[in-house]
Amino acid sequence: MLSQETINIIKSTVPVLEEHGKTITTVFYKNMLTAHPELLNVFNHANQSQGRQQTALANTVYAAAANIDNLEAIVPAVVQIAHKHKSLGITEDQYPIVGHHLLGAIKEVLGDAATPEILEAWGQAYGVIADAFIGVEKGMYDQAEAMENGWRTFKPFVVEKKVEESDVITSFYLKPVDGQKLPTYLPGQYITVRLKVDGEEYTLNRQYSLSRAPQDSTEAYRISVKREDEVTPNGKVSTHLHSAVNVGDQVEVSVPAGDFYLETDSTTPVTLISGGVGITPMMSMYETIAKVSPERHVAFLHSARTRAHQAFNERIEELNASLENSSTAVLYSEEGDGFITKEFLQEKVIAGSDIFVCGPTPFMQVVINYLYELGHPEEKVHFEFFGPKAELELVMA
Ligand SMILES: Cc1cc2nc3c(=O)[nH]c(=O)nc-3n(C[C@H](O)[C@H](O)[C@H](O)COP(=O)(O)OP(=O)(O)OC[C@H]3O[C@@H](n4cnc5c(N)ncnc54)[C@H](O)[C@@H]3O)c2cc1C
Ligand code: HEM
Repeated sequence: MLSQETINIIKSTVPVLEEHGKTITTVFYKNMLTAHPELLNVFNHANQSQGRQQTALANTVYAAAANIDNLEAIVPAVVQIAHKHKSLGITEDQYPIVGHHLLGAIKEVLGDAATPEILEAWGQAYGVIADAFIGVEKGMYDQAEAMENGWRTFKPFVVEKKVEESDVITSFYLKPVDGQKLPTYLPGQYITVRLKVDGEEYTLNRQYSLSRAPQDSTEAYRISVKREDEVTPNGKVSTHLHSAVNVGDQVEVSVPAGDFYLETDSTTPVTLISGGVGITPMMSMYETIAKVSPERHVAFLHSARTRAHQAFNERIEELNASLENSSTAVLYSEEGDGFITKEFLQEKVIAGSDIFVCGPTPFMQVVINYLYELGHPEEKVHFEFFGPKAELELVMA
Protein backbone atom coordinates (compact mmCIF):
# COMPACT_ATOMS: atom_id res chain seq x y z
CA MET A 1 0.00 0.00 0.00
CA LEU A 2 1.18 3.51 -0.76
CA SER A 3 1.15 6.07 2.04
CA GLN A 4 -1.16 9.07 1.77
CA GLU A 5 1.92 11.27 1.50
CA THR A 6 3.21 9.29 -1.47
CA ILE A 7 -0.22 9.45 -3.10
CA ASN A 8 -0.28 13.22 -2.61
CA ILE A 9 3.14 13.61 -4.18
CA ILE A 10 2.13 11.47 -7.16
CA LYS A 11 -1.12 13.32 -7.75
CA SER A 12 0.49 16.74 -7.48
CA THR A 13 3.30 15.85 -9.91
CA VAL A 14 1.21 14.11 -12.59
CA PRO A 15 0.62 17.44 -14.43
CA VAL A 16 4.35 18.21 -14.48
CA LEU A 17 5.17 14.82 -15.90
CA GLU A 18 2.33 15.07 -18.38
CA GLU A 19 3.76 18.33 -19.60
CA HIS A 20 7.11 16.63 -20.22
CA GLY A 21 5.49 13.31 -21.06
CA LYS A 22 6.79 12.86 -24.54
CA THR A 23 10.32 14.06 -23.74
CA ILE A 24 10.51 11.74 -20.75
CA THR A 25 9.38 8.68 -22.66
CA THR A 26 11.61 9.49 -25.63
CA VAL A 27 14.62 9.68 -23.30
CA PHE A 28 13.36 6.55 -21.54
CA TYR A 29 13.22 4.50 -24.75
CA LYS A 30 16.57 5.74 -25.99
CA ASN A 31 18.31 4.88 -22.72
CA MET A 32 16.53 1.58 -22.22
CA LEU A 33 17.15 0.31 -25.75
CA THR A 34 20.81 1.36 -25.54
CA ALA A 35 21.24 -0.55 -22.26
CA HIS A 36 19.08 -3.48 -23.42
CA PRO A 37 19.40 -3.85 -27.19
CA GLU A 38 17.78 -7.30 -26.88
CA LEU A 39 14.48 -5.46 -26.33
CA LEU A 40 14.70 -4.34 -29.95
CA ASN A 41 13.50 -7.88 -30.67
CA VAL A 42 10.23 -6.94 -28.99
CA PHE A 43 9.47 -3.28 -29.72
CA ASN A 44 8.12 -2.15 -33.08
CA HIS A 45 10.70 0.18 -34.58
CA ALA A 46 8.24 1.88 -36.93
CA ASN A 47 5.95 2.75 -34.02
CA GLN A 48 9.00 4.03 -32.15
CA SER A 49 10.21 6.24 -34.95
CA GLN A 50 6.76 7.80 -35.31
CA GLY A 51 6.42 8.38 -31.57
CA ARG A 52 3.13 6.50 -31.37
CA GLN A 53 4.36 4.05 -28.77
CA GLN A 54 5.92 6.80 -26.64
CA THR A 55 2.61 8.61 -26.46
CA ALA A 56 0.70 5.43 -25.59
CA LEU A 57 2.98 4.43 -22.75
CA ALA A 58 3.28 7.93 -21.31
CA ASN A 59 -0.48 8.44 -21.34
CA THR A 60 -1.06 5.16 -19.59
CA VAL A 61 1.45 5.73 -16.84
CA TYR A 62 -0.02 9.16 -16.07
CA ALA A 63 -3.60 7.93 -16.25
CA ALA A 64 -2.66 5.14 -13.86
CA ALA A 65 -0.82 7.51 -11.55
CA ALA A 66 -3.71 9.97 -11.48
CA ASN A 67 -5.87 7.04 -10.31
CA ILE A 68 -3.23 5.54 -8.05
CA ASP A 69 -5.63 5.33 -5.08
CA ASN A 70 -8.36 3.87 -7.30
CA LEU A 71 -6.67 1.60 -9.83
CA GLU A 72 -10.03 -0.10 -10.45
CA ALA A 73 -10.82 2.85 -12.73
CA ILE A 74 -8.13 1.87 -15.21
CA VAL A 75 -8.72 -1.88 -15.25
CA PRO A 76 -10.24 -1.87 -18.77
CA ALA A 77 -7.18 -0.04 -20.09
CA VAL A 78 -4.87 -2.44 -18.27
CA VAL A 79 -6.67 -5.45 -19.71
CA GLN A 80 -6.46 -4.11 -23.26
CA ILE A 81 -2.73 -3.41 -22.96
CA ALA A 82 -2.17 -6.73 -21.20
CA HIS A 83 -3.64 -8.49 -24.24
CA LYS A 84 -1.07 -6.71 -26.42
CA HIS A 85 1.72 -7.55 -23.96
CA LYS A 86 0.59 -11.16 -23.83
CA SER A 87 0.62 -11.40 -27.63
CA LEU A 88 4.22 -10.20 -27.51
CA GLY A 89 5.36 -12.52 -24.73
CA ILE A 90 6.24 -9.67 -22.32
CA THR A 91 7.62 -11.17 -19.10
CA GLU A 92 7.58 -10.18 -15.45
CA ASP A 93 11.36 -9.73 -15.30
CA GLN A 94 11.17 -6.98 -17.96
CA TYR A 95 9.09 -4.69 -15.72
CA PRO A 96 11.97 -3.63 -13.43
CA ILE A 97 14.00 -2.72 -16.55
CA VAL A 98 11.20 -0.45 -17.76
CA GLY A 99 10.78 0.99 -14.24
CA HIS A 100 14.49 1.69 -13.83
CA HIS A 101 14.76 3.57 -17.11
CA LEU A 102 11.47 5.40 -16.69
CA LEU A 103 12.59 6.75 -13.34
CA GLY A 104 16.01 7.56 -14.78
CA ALA A 105 14.34 9.52 -17.58
CA ILE A 106 12.13 11.47 -15.14
CA LYS A 107 15.27 12.42 -13.24
CA GLU A 108 17.15 13.36 -16.39
CA VAL A 109 14.38 15.53 -17.86
CA LEU A 110 13.15 17.23 -14.68
CA GLY A 111 16.64 17.82 -13.27
CA ASP A 112 16.61 19.44 -9.81
CA ALA A 113 12.82 19.60 -9.84
CA ALA A 114 12.83 15.81 -9.37
CA THR A 115 13.58 15.73 -5.65
CA PRO A 116 14.49 12.44 -3.93
CA GLU A 117 10.95 12.38 -2.42
CA ILE A 118 9.36 12.72 -5.84
CA LEU A 119 11.54 10.00 -7.32
CA GLU A 120 10.87 7.72 -4.36
CA ALA A 121 7.12 8.26 -4.71
CA TRP A 122 7.17 7.53 -8.45
CA GLY A 123 9.32 4.45 -7.89
CA GLN A 124 6.67 3.13 -5.50
CA ALA A 125 3.80 4.09 -7.78
CA TYR A 126 5.44 2.38 -10.76
CA GLY A 127 5.78 -0.74 -8.62
CA VAL A 128 2.05 -0.73 -7.88
CA ILE A 129 1.11 -0.15 -11.54
CA ALA A 130 3.58 -2.80 -12.77
CA ASP A 131 2.19 -5.32 -10.27
CA ALA A 132 -1.31 -4.72 -11.66
CA PHE A 133 -0.07 -5.50 -15.20
CA ILE A 134 2.04 -8.47 -14.10
CA GLY A 135 -0.91 -9.99 -12.24
CA VAL A 136 -3.32 -9.64 -15.15
CA GLU A 137 -0.73 -10.94 -17.64
CA LYS A 138 0.21 -13.92 -15.50
CA GLY A 139 -3.45 -14.92 -15.43
CA MET A 140 -3.58 -14.65 -19.23
CA TYR A 141 -0.42 -16.72 -19.80
CA ASP A 142 -1.58 -19.41 -17.38
CA GLN A 143 -4.92 -19.54 -19.14
CA ALA A 144 -3.31 -19.67 -22.60
CA GLU A 145 -1.14 -22.58 -21.55
CA ALA A 146 -3.93 -24.41 -19.76
CA MET A 147 -6.52 -24.16 -22.53
CA GLU A 148 -6.97 -27.11 -24.87
CA ASN A 149 -4.14 -27.16 -27.44
CA GLY A 150 -2.79 -23.91 -25.96
CA TRP A 151 0.78 -22.70 -25.53
CA ARG A 152 2.40 -19.91 -23.54
CA THR A 153 4.09 -17.38 -25.83
CA PHE A 154 5.30 -18.20 -29.35
CA LYS A 155 5.50 -21.37 -31.37
CA PRO A 156 6.60 -22.16 -34.93
CA PHE A 157 3.89 -22.26 -37.60
CA VAL A 158 4.09 -23.14 -41.26
CA VAL A 159 2.27 -21.46 -44.13
CA GLU A 160 -0.19 -24.02 -45.46
CA LYS A 161 -1.83 -21.83 -48.08
CA LYS A 162 -1.44 -18.31 -49.48
CA VAL A 163 -4.45 -16.73 -51.20
CA GLU A 164 -4.66 -13.36 -52.94
CA GLU A 165 -7.89 -11.71 -51.77
CA SER A 166 -7.53 -8.40 -53.63
CA ASP A 167 -4.88 -6.27 -55.34
CA VAL A 168 -3.42 -5.39 -51.93
CA ILE A 169 -4.63 -8.03 -49.44
CA THR A 170 -3.37 -11.62 -49.24
CA SER A 171 -4.42 -14.34 -46.78
CA PHE A 172 -2.02 -16.71 -45.05
CA TYR A 173 -3.26 -20.00 -43.61
CA LEU A 174 -1.03 -20.96 -40.68
CA LYS A 175 -0.65 -24.32 -38.94
CA PRO A 176 1.60 -25.39 -36.05
CA VAL A 177 4.80 -27.10 -37.19
CA ASP A 178 4.46 -29.65 -34.37
CA GLY A 179 1.22 -30.95 -35.88
CA GLN A 180 -0.82 -30.10 -32.77
CA LYS A 181 -4.42 -28.96 -32.99
CA LEU A 182 -5.26 -25.29 -32.46
CA PRO A 183 -7.10 -23.61 -29.61
CA THR A 184 -10.23 -21.69 -30.47
CA TYR A 185 -10.43 -17.89 -30.21
CA LEU A 186 -13.03 -15.17 -29.98
CA PRO A 187 -14.17 -13.61 -33.28
CA GLY A 188 -12.28 -10.30 -33.54
CA GLN A 189 -9.10 -11.45 -31.76
CA TYR A 190 -5.60 -11.23 -33.25
CA ILE A 191 -2.30 -13.07 -33.15
CA THR A 192 1.24 -11.72 -33.24
CA VAL A 193 3.45 -12.95 -36.06
CA ARG A 194 7.16 -12.90 -35.23
CA LEU A 195 9.75 -13.30 -37.94
CA LYS A 196 13.23 -12.47 -39.18
CA VAL A 197 13.66 -10.41 -42.33
CA ASP A 198 16.92 -10.56 -44.28
CA GLY A 199 19.03 -7.52 -43.56
CA GLU A 200 17.24 -6.77 -40.27
CA GLU A 201 19.25 -7.35 -37.12
CA TYR A 202 16.29 -7.99 -34.84
CA THR A 203 13.13 -10.05 -35.00
CA LEU A 204 9.97 -8.19 -36.02
CA ASN A 205 6.57 -8.61 -34.37
CA ARG A 206 3.25 -7.56 -35.89
CA GLN A 207 -0.33 -8.21 -34.89
CA TYR A 208 -2.84 -9.61 -37.40
CA SER A 209 -6.54 -10.19 -36.76
CA LEU A 210 -7.79 -13.70 -37.38
CA SER A 211 -9.88 -13.14 -40.51
CA ARG A 212 -12.35 -16.00 -40.40
CA ALA A 213 -14.67 -17.54 -37.84
CA PRO A 214 -13.14 -19.92 -35.29
CA GLN A 215 -12.89 -23.30 -37.03
CA ASP A 216 -12.51 -26.89 -36.04
CA SER A 217 -9.24 -27.39 -34.10
CA THR A 218 -7.62 -29.19 -37.03
CA GLU A 219 -8.06 -26.17 -39.35
CA ALA A 220 -5.45 -23.45 -39.86
CA TYR A 221 -5.56 -19.93 -38.45
CA ARG A 222 -6.09 -17.41 -41.23
CA ILE A 223 -4.71 -13.88 -41.33
CA SER A 224 -5.15 -11.41 -44.19
CA VAL A 225 -2.43 -8.87 -44.70
CA LYS A 226 -2.44 -5.60 -46.60
CA ARG A 227 0.80 -4.89 -48.43
CA GLU A 228 2.11 -1.53 -47.22
CA ASP A 229 4.35 -0.74 -50.16
CA GLU A 230 2.79 2.45 -51.46
CA VAL A 231 4.40 4.29 -48.54
CA THR A 232 8.01 5.26 -47.86
CA PRO A 233 9.64 3.49 -46.18
CA ASN A 234 7.78 0.34 -47.21
CA GLY A 235 6.12 -1.59 -44.41
CA LYS A 236 8.70 -4.18 -43.41
CA VAL A 237 6.65 -7.16 -42.36
CA SER A 238 3.68 -6.81 -44.69
CA THR A 239 5.93 -6.37 -47.73
CA HIS A 240 8.06 -9.32 -46.62
CA LEU A 241 5.02 -11.55 -46.09
CA HIS A 242 3.65 -10.71 -49.52
CA SER A 243 6.88 -11.00 -51.46
CA ALA A 244 8.99 -13.55 -49.59
CA VAL A 245 6.86 -15.79 -47.37
CA ASN A 246 5.36 -18.72 -49.27
CA VAL A 247 3.73 -22.08 -48.67
CA GLY A 248 6.05 -24.21 -46.53
CA ASP A 249 7.82 -21.25 -44.91
CA GLN A 250 7.76 -20.78 -41.16
CA VAL A 251 6.91 -17.88 -38.84
CA GLU A 252 6.37 -17.80 -35.09
CA VAL A 253 2.85 -17.19 -33.82
CA SER A 254 1.44 -16.12 -30.44
CA VAL A 255 -1.74 -17.39 -28.84
CA PRO A 256 -4.83 -15.38 -29.86
CA ALA A 257 -5.33 -12.19 -27.85
CA GLY A 258 -7.42 -9.04 -27.71
CA ASP A 259 -10.54 -7.65 -26.09
CA PHE A 260 -12.25 -6.56 -29.33
CA TYR A 261 -14.61 -9.45 -29.94
CA LEU A 262 -18.20 -10.41 -30.63
CA GLU A 263 -20.25 -11.81 -27.74
CA THR A 264 -21.55 -15.00 -29.29
CA ASP A 265 -24.10 -15.86 -26.60
CA SER A 266 -25.95 -12.55 -27.06
CA THR A 267 -28.87 -11.84 -29.36
CA THR A 268 -28.29 -8.07 -29.52
CA PRO A 269 -28.14 -6.81 -33.13
CA VAL A 270 -24.67 -6.12 -34.49
CA THR A 271 -23.31 -3.45 -36.82
CA LEU A 272 -19.86 -4.06 -38.30
CA ILE A 273 -18.16 -0.98 -39.80
CA SER A 274 -14.77 -1.24 -41.44
CA GLY A 275 -12.42 0.71 -43.65
CA GLY A 276 -9.75 -0.96 -45.83
CA VAL A 277 -7.97 -3.89 -44.21
CA GLY A 278 -9.97 -3.17 -41.03
CA ILE A 279 -12.36 -5.65 -42.64
CA THR A 280 -10.43 -8.63 -41.20
CA PRO A 281 -11.91 -8.86 -37.68
CA MET A 282 -15.35 -8.11 -39.19
CA MET A 283 -15.08 -11.17 -41.46
CA SER A 284 -14.48 -13.31 -38.41
CA MET A 285 -17.49 -11.82 -36.63
CA TYR A 286 -19.77 -11.97 -39.69
CA GLU A 287 -18.90 -15.61 -40.39
CA THR A 288 -19.43 -16.43 -36.72
CA ILE A 289 -22.92 -14.96 -36.80
CA ALA A 290 -23.66 -17.07 -39.87
CA LYS A 291 -22.40 -20.16 -38.05
CA VAL A 292 -23.87 -19.80 -34.59
CA SER A 293 -26.81 -17.38 -34.73
CA PRO A 294 -28.05 -16.93 -38.30
CA GLU A 295 -31.21 -15.24 -37.07
CA ARG A 296 -29.29 -12.41 -35.39
CA HIS A 297 -29.74 -8.96 -36.96
CA VAL A 298 -26.51 -7.74 -38.53
CA ALA A 299 -25.38 -4.92 -40.81
CA PHE A 300 -22.04 -5.18 -42.59
CA LEU A 301 -20.79 -1.73 -43.67
CA HIS A 302 -17.49 -1.33 -45.45
CA SER A 303 -15.49 1.36 -47.18
CA ALA A 304 -12.70 0.54 -49.63
CA ARG A 305 -10.74 2.68 -52.08
CA THR A 306 -11.79 0.70 -55.14
CA ARG A 307 -13.35 -2.63 -55.92
CA ALA A 308 -9.93 -3.98 -56.83
CA HIS A 309 -8.66 -3.09 -53.34
CA GLN A 310 -11.52 -4.81 -51.58
CA ALA A 311 -11.10 -8.30 -50.17
CA PHE A 312 -13.81 -10.91 -49.51
CA ASN A 313 -16.44 -9.35 -51.75
CA GLU A 314 -17.95 -12.67 -52.83
CA ARG A 315 -17.81 -14.13 -49.35
CA ILE A 316 -19.70 -11.14 -47.97
CA GLU A 317 -22.42 -11.53 -50.57
CA GLU A 318 -22.64 -15.25 -49.88
CA LEU A 319 -22.95 -14.69 -46.12
CA ASN A 320 -25.50 -11.94 -46.59
CA ALA A 321 -27.62 -14.18 -48.81
CA SER A 322 -27.47 -17.01 -46.29
CA LEU A 323 -28.63 -14.87 -43.36
CA GLU A 324 -32.20 -14.06 -42.46
CA ASN A 325 -31.66 -10.60 -41.01
CA SER A 326 -28.56 -9.25 -42.67
CA SER A 327 -27.80 -6.23 -44.81
CA THR A 328 -24.58 -5.02 -46.39
CA ALA A 329 -23.38 -1.76 -47.90
CA VAL A 330 -19.97 -1.22 -49.47
CA LEU A 331 -18.72 2.19 -50.57
CA TYR A 332 -15.83 2.64 -53.02
CA SER A 333 -14.41 6.03 -52.18
CA GLU A 334 -12.39 6.40 -55.39
CA GLU A 335 -15.18 5.16 -57.63
CA GLY A 336 -17.76 7.83 -56.97
CA ASP A 337 -19.28 6.60 -53.70
CA GLY A 338 -17.31 9.00 -51.50
CA PHE A 339 -16.62 8.28 -47.84
CA ILE A 340 -18.95 7.15 -45.08
CA THR A 341 -21.19 10.05 -44.05
CA LYS A 342 -23.29 10.69 -41.00
CA GLU A 343 -26.44 10.25 -43.09
CA PHE A 344 -25.17 6.88 -44.33
CA LEU A 345 -24.65 5.75 -40.74
CA GLN A 346 -28.00 7.14 -39.65
CA GLU A 347 -29.65 5.00 -42.30
CA LYS A 348 -27.57 1.81 -41.98
CA VAL A 349 -26.57 1.34 -38.34
CA ILE A 350 -29.07 -0.88 -36.58
CA ALA A 351 -30.77 0.86 -33.64
CA GLY A 352 -29.56 -0.42 -30.28
CA SER A 353 -26.89 -2.62 -31.88
CA ASP A 354 -23.43 -3.46 -30.62
CA ILE A 355 -21.24 -1.53 -33.03
CA PHE A 356 -17.74 -2.64 -34.04
CA VAL A 357 -15.43 -0.22 -35.85
CA CYS A 358 -12.00 -0.86 -37.36
CA GLY A 359 -10.03 1.04 -39.97
CA PRO A 360 -7.32 3.65 -40.41
CA THR A 361 -7.09 6.24 -37.61
CA PRO A 362 -8.73 9.10 -39.59
CA PHE A 363 -11.59 6.73 -40.50
CA MET A 364 -12.10 5.80 -36.85
CA GLN A 365 -11.99 9.43 -35.77
CA VAL A 366 -14.76 10.37 -38.19
CA VAL A 367 -16.96 7.29 -37.85
CA ILE A 368 -16.87 7.11 -34.06
CA ASN A 369 -17.73 10.79 -33.74
CA TYR A 370 -20.69 10.39 -36.11
CA LEU A 371 -21.89 7.43 -34.06
CA TYR A 372 -21.72 9.45 -30.84
CA GLU A 373 -23.45 12.39 -32.51
CA LEU A 374 -26.19 10.03 -33.65
CA GLY A 375 -26.72 9.09 -30.02
CA HIS A 376 -25.06 5.68 -29.87
CA PRO A 377 -23.71 5.35 -26.33
CA GLU A 378 -20.03 4.81 -25.65
CA GLU A 379 -20.54 1.34 -24.20
CA LYS A 380 -22.08 0.18 -27.49
CA VAL A 381 -19.25 1.44 -29.69
CA HIS A 382 -16.26 -0.94 -29.75
CA PHE A 383 -13.16 -0.18 -31.76
CA GLU A 384 -9.77 -1.65 -32.58
CA PHE A 385 -6.65 0.18 -33.72
CA PHE A 386 -4.28 -1.55 -36.11
CA GLY A 387 -1.39 0.00 -34.18
CA PRO A 388 -0.83 1.51 -30.75
CA LYS A 389 -4.06 2.98 -29.50
CA ALA A 390 -4.15 6.54 -30.87
CA GLU A 391 -5.57 9.58 -29.17
CA LEU A 392 -8.86 10.38 -30.84
CA GLU A 393 -10.58 13.70 -30.44
CA LEU A 394 -14.00 12.44 -29.56
CA VAL A 395 -17.24 14.17 -28.82
CA MET A 396 -18.91 12.49 -25.90
CA ALA A 397 -21.76 10.12 -26.45
C1 LIG B 1 -4.66 -5.58 -33.14
C2 LIG B 1 -4.10 -5.39 -34.52
C3 LIG B 1 -4.62 -6.11 -35.59
C4 LIG B 1 -4.11 -5.94 -36.86
N1 LIG B 1 -4.66 -6.65 -37.89
C5 LIG B 1 -4.20 -6.49 -39.15
C6 LIG B 1 -4.77 -7.23 -40.24
O1 LIG B 1 -5.68 -8.04 -40.07
N2 LIG B 1 -4.25 -7.03 -41.48
C7 LIG B 1 -3.24 -6.14 -41.72
O2 LIG B 1 -2.81 -6.00 -42.87
N3 LIG B 1 -2.70 -5.42 -40.70
C8 LIG B 1 -3.14 -5.59 -39.42
N4 LIG B 1 -2.56 -4.88 -38.40
C9 LIG B 1 -1.43 -3.97 -38.71
C10 LIG B 1 -0.12 -4.79 -38.70
O3 LIG B 1 0.16 -5.22 -37.38
C11 LIG B 1 1.09 -3.97 -39.17
O4 LIG B 1 1.14 -2.78 -38.46
C12 LIG B 1 1.04 -3.69 -40.67
O5 LIG B 1 1.06 -4.91 -41.39
C13 LIG B 1 2.24 -2.84 -41.07
O6 LIG B 1 3.41 -3.50 -40.67
P1 LIG B 1 4.73 -3.40 -41.56
O7 LIG B 1 5.83 -4.11 -40.82
O8 LIG B 1 4.46 -3.80 -42.94
O9 LIG B 1 5.01 -1.86 -41.55
P2 LIG B 1 6.05 -1.08 -40.63
O10 LIG B 1 7.43 -1.36 -41.08
O11 LIG B 1 5.69 -1.37 -39.23
O12 LIG B 1 5.69 0.40 -41.02
C14 LIG B 1 4.39 0.91 -40.69
C15 LIG B 1 4.27 2.33 -41.21
O13 LIG B 1 5.24 3.16 -40.59
C16 LIG B 1 5.95 3.88 -41.56
N5 LIG B 1 7.34 4.05 -41.09
C17 LIG B 1 8.22 3.07 -40.85
N6 LIG B 1 9.39 3.57 -40.44
C18 LIG B 1 9.25 4.91 -40.44
C19 LIG B 1 10.10 6.00 -40.15
N7 LIG B 1 11.34 5.79 -39.75
N8 LIG B 1 9.60 7.25 -40.25
C20 LIG B 1 8.34 7.46 -40.66
N9 LIG B 1 7.49 6.47 -40.97
C21 LIG B 1 7.93 5.22 -40.87
C22 LIG B 1 5.88 3.06 -42.83
O14 LIG B 1 5.99 3.84 -44.00
C23 LIG B 1 4.50 2.45 -42.72
O15 LIG B 1 3.54 3.35 -43.21
C24 LIG B 1 -3.06 -5.04 -37.10
C25 LIG B 1 -2.50 -4.34 -36.03
C26 LIG B 1 -3.01 -4.51 -34.76
C27 LIG B 1 -2.40 -3.75 -33.61
C1 HEM C 1 3.59 -0.55 -16.16
C2 HEM C 1 4.36 -0.63 -17.22
C3 HEM C 1 3.87 -0.57 -18.65
C4 HEM C 1 2.90 0.22 -19.20
C5 HEM C 1 2.03 1.26 -18.51
C6 HEM C 1 2.84 -0.11 -20.60
C7 HEM C 1 1.97 0.48 -21.50
C8 HEM C 1 1.84 0.11 -22.82
C9 HEM C 1 0.89 0.67 -23.75
C10 HEM C 1 -0.11 1.75 -23.44
C11 HEM C 1 1.06 0.05 -24.94
C12 HEM C 1 0.29 0.31 -26.24
C13 HEM C 1 -0.88 -0.61 -26.28
C14 HEM C 1 -1.65 -0.46 -27.54
O1 HEM C 1 -1.31 -1.13 -28.51
O2 HEM C 1 -2.60 0.31 -27.58
C15 HEM C 1 2.10 -0.92 -24.76
C16 HEM C 1 2.59 -1.74 -25.76
C17 HEM C 1 3.78 -2.42 -25.66
N1 HEM C 1 4.50 -2.65 -24.53
FE1 HEM C 1 4.09 -1.94 -22.69
N2 HEM C 1 3.76 -1.08 -20.89
C18 HEM C 1 4.40 -1.39 -19.72
C19 HEM C 1 5.41 -2.33 -19.56
C20 HEM C 1 6.05 -2.98 -20.60
C21 HEM C 1 7.19 -3.85 -20.45
C22 HEM C 1 7.85 -4.25 -19.13
C23 HEM C 1 7.55 -4.25 -21.70
C24 HEM C 1 8.68 -5.14 -22.10
C25 HEM C 1 9.90 -4.72 -22.16
C26 HEM C 1 6.60 -3.63 -22.63
C27 HEM C 1 6.60 -3.81 -24.00
C28 HEM C 1 5.61 -3.35 -24.85
C29 HEM C 1 5.62 -3.61 -26.28
C30 HEM C 1 6.71 -4.34 -27.05
C31 HEM C 1 4.46 -3.02 -26.79
C32 HEM C 1 4.01 -2.96 -28.24
C33 HEM C 1 4.81 -1.86 -28.80
C34 HEM C 1 4.67 -1.54 -30.24
O3 HEM C 1 3.72 -1.95 -30.91
O4 HEM C 1 5.59 -0.85 -30.68
N3 HEM C 1 5.71 -2.88 -21.93
N4 HEM C 1 2.56 -0.86 -23.48
